[in-house]
Amino acid sequence: MNLSSLQAQYSAKRTKSASFFKEADSVIAGGVNGNLRFFQPFPMTFQKAYGAWLVDLDGNHYVDYLLSYGSLLLGHGHSVVRQALEQVWEDQGTSSFGATHPLELEMSKEIKELYPGFERLRFTNSGLEATLFALRLALAFTGKTHIAKFEGHYHGSHDHVLVSVNPELNQAGSPETPQAVPESYGIPDYYLQHTIILPFNDWPACERILTSMKERIGAVILEPMQAGYIAADPRFVVNLRDLTEKLGMVLIFDEVKTGFRVSLGGAQAFYGVQPDLTALGKVVGGGFPIGVVGGKQEILDMCSPGRSPKREEVVFHSGTFNGNPVSLAAGLATIRYLKQPGKFESIVNRTNELRKGIESLAQSFEVPIRTIGAGTIFNVLAIEGDVSNYRDLSRNRKDWRLALDYLLMDNGVYSKPLNRFSMSDAHGPKEIQATLEAFEKSFAAFKATVHV
Ligand SMILES: Cc1ncc(COP(=O)(O)O)c(C=O)c1O
Repeated sequence: MNLSSLQAQYSAKRTKSASFFKEADSVIAGGVNGNLRFFQPFPMTFQKAYGAWLVDLDGNHYVDYLLSYGSLLLGHGHSVVRQALEQVWEDQGTSSFGATHPLELEMSKEIKELYPGFERLRFTNSGLEATLFALRLALAFTGKTHIAKFEGHYHGSHDHVLVSVNPELNQAGSPETPQAVPESYGIPDYYLQHTIILPFNDWPACERILTSMKERIGAVILEPMQAGYIAADPRFVVNLRDLTEKLGMVLIFDEVKTGFRVSLGGAQAFYGVQPDLTALGKVVGGGFPIGVVGGKQEILDMCSPGRSPKREEVVFHSGTFNGNPVSLAAGLATIRYLKQPGKFESIVNRTNELRKGIESLAQSFEVPIRTIGAGTIFNVLAIEGDVSNYRDLSRNRKDWRLALDYLLMDNGVYSKPLNRFSMSDAHGPKEIQATLEAFEKSFAAFKATVHV
């Protein structure tokens, strides 16, 4: 395989994106507003989106499977979201009160119907803020000093959890006792020392680590499906629930990706297991910035301003745009639309149809590609055997997937190289057919260029 020739082909078709990126790079650090947005030789620049489609600066059209990192479960510019935005302008006349307003209560009740464990909740502006706040609540509630997170799990870009997300295996310790590896330059040592790393889906190892540090660990945070697509073993989730309860640790499900996507009630409904706290984000904002922390009243109430006149006895949480009417109106419209009978199921059915189509094409071309996922998210991997945690992913032929990504972009399908695929309500039969045709052409070219 020659990755550089695939990249040269990518560049040749995107000359406007190339020169735009050069100019952006002279003003915006690295040319991107988020490191995950960069890929070689330069990320394309988009000028427009509609439904399930993206259009780049050079006029190339793509079926979009990035969907703003999974947040657009209704696709781009859905009519119910547009109407809700117009209505909120009309009714409330502002994008932000910075104060309480009725939509906050309406949205809270709607979320609580799907997430019955939310005895109380708070809105934030992002998933990052939601996990940060959930962890602060948990440490205040337990009075302990350390948190535990799983190797390979992402919880947003704050210091306490920007640890062992994609560690180099030669720095990461043994599979049963993973070591904390910084994911970024500039993480203070404090966080590496106070973040304990657990191996996902390895119950004996988790039980041993958690039990041995029970005095210090106040919170266990996880993506119940790693990176949104690698499922926890159901027994593992139940064991974790039982043990954290027994050891006095707050169990936090980070459902920023899986919320509303694995099922409308998230992975907690899928597994029938209720964490103490949950972080939501992405879909719940209907395409606008949002995060939610919900869960047990006794924990959430730690942030109630009326709890104590002493500042040091109240968990601080604030944010200028928390619960702003625009994000709530868009999110509310999205949730209500998805709650209509059969709506969510039909997106799941189309996801399964697409996955089946990709897998049968892979088989007919004898290309070692498969899909892994649940609900409306999946990933496309070049891997054989069981995939149950970060270490297993080292068997994935990333170079093959990357080659496939350039070919798919060439044929009008975009997920961003090496990223998951998220589906939306806007991905109908036409988009599925266009995607499968793109996979067919890409597999044929893959076969011809990659020595499998
Ligand atoms: C599981 C998970 N948690 C937290 C976050 C952070 O959310 P945000 O990007 O809104 O800060 C993400 C973002 O991808 C995520 O996937």
